[in-house]
Amino acid sequence: MHLQVVKKKNSSPIKELEKSQLIINEASDIVRDLSHKLISSVLIKFGLKTALQGLCEKYSNDDLSFTLNTTTQIPRYEQDFELKIFNIIQESTNNIIKHSNASATSIYMKQIDTNLLITIEDNGVGFNAENTALKKGVGLDLIKTQIKNLNGHIQITSIENKGTSIEISVPVIIA
Ligand SMILES: Nc1ncnc2c1ncn2[C@@H]1O[C@H](COP(=O)(O)OP(=O)(O)OP(=O)(O)O)[C@@H](O)[C@H]1O
Ligand SMILES: [Mg+2]
Repeated sequence: MHLQVVKKKNSSPIKELEKSQLIINEASDIVRDLSHKLISSVLIKFGLKTALQGLCEKYSNDDLSFTLNTTTQIPRYEQDFELKIFNIIQESTNNIIKHSNASATSIYMKQIDTNLLITIEDNGVGFNAENTALKKGVGLDLIKTQIKNLNGHIQITSIENKGTSIEISVPVIIA
């Protein structure tokens, strides 16, 4: 619409391009919002395993693969518990996309007795997990707080140029 106006005489291309950019930004916000809603509705309807398979498919590309490995049956849990676990894994995968430069990510998940065990591994650049002085973000701190509130444990192991592994153990909450 605005781009067509540019073709006409006396129009200001910069102004019309700026308007087009605004519309494109708005559209991309809507798509992102819809995509979140879709994931949440899959999570609510089908549970963690299906939602995580969707996340792996969505994030995988030619440069970086995401694989989900479940070695026990993953039943349905309380909805809020499923949502918290999903968000924790999503923040970890966002970090891998943003910071790791990895080519492969594996998410392992199993339930042993009443504990859900999750490992998120990447083969990227790694980082100094102990060095709190250099930290700018809040994502990892939020994950640690969430796990603590769920009475779980988390261990982050990262080796420079080998990758990062986040191991989580959390007591399950059944509806
Ligand atoms: N998988 C990873 N590979 C390499 N570095 C990582 C990885 N995960 C986290 N980091 C490092 O740890 C830092 C802290 O991560 P955190 O999620 O707390 O913050 P952030 O991602 O920088 O910002 P935010 O999560 O608030 O948007 C990152 O800035 C990055 O340097
Ligand atoms: Mg982060």
